[in-house]
Amino acid sequence: MRRYSQITIAIHWLTALLVVAAWFTAEGGRHARADPPYLHFTLGLAVLLLVVPRLLARWLGAAPRVEDPQSRWMDLAARAGHTVLYLFLIALPLSGWYAASRLGIQVSFLGLDLPALAAPVQGAPGLIADLHETGGTLILWLAGAHALIAIWHQFVMKDGTLERMNPLTANDLAESRE
Ligand code: HEM
Ligand code: HEM
Repeated sequence: MRRYSQITIAIHWLTALLVVAAWFTAEGGRHARADPPYLHFTLGLAVLLLVVPRLLARWLGAAPRVEDPQSRWMDLAARAGHTVLYLFLIALPLSGWYAASRLGIQVSFLGLDLPALAAPVQGAPGLIADLHETGGTLILWLAGAHALIAIWHQFVMKDGTLERMNPLTANDLAESRE
């Protein structure tokens, strides 16, 4: 059984927690302008920060290929699904940062002021902000479907998929690359 590296497993579960927490702390439209949800910004930006070492670790071989995948289309579908999740993990924080800039809100991360990604506007913050709001909820549905598929693999197909992401039985990077 090939597992993900410890660092990838830690980042996977931390990211999942941060995404859910970002969703719970989100504020839309007028509320966001009057009383900016700074905690939402911090949680969301942490997602963006964590995706960088995670993708690097992936390129360095910390994402084990499925040994003997049960079918080629299933392997491809899993890769496509994970790619979509990664795209959301990058696009959501960036579009939120853009939306905050359009609303004229200063975005900072752990006390560090970040530059605005767009000039502030008086009215509605625009299409990208709308996409951010919709995408912010869509990622939870996608992650829910992803979790159900992982559970189905584990208990119906019995191929040990959940074990690959189990923090309690994590191997180190070297072992996972054996
Ligand atoms: C917001 C929540 C979540 C996000 C954004 C997310 C994202 C991801 C991504 C991007 C990968 C691909 C890793 C890679 O190969 O580079 C992955 C793998 C995985 N995730 Fe999640 N995940 C979430 C929640 C969950 C939950 C709740 C479960 C379990 C119930 C789960 C189980 C797994 C498993 C088992 C793998 C490894 C799949 C494999 O071996 O191919 N994830 N996740
Ligand atoms: C994984 C990360 C994120 C998720 C899941 C997420 C989710 C959401 C959701 C669901 C909403 C809509 C809330 C509502 O309508 O009541 C929202 C709004 C908003 N988010 Fe995020 N967000 C994330 C990251 C960020 C980041 C990093 C920033 C800024 C740095 C940000 C800034 C905003 C702003 C300004 C709004 C209001 C947009 C508007 O009124 O048009 N978000 N977010």
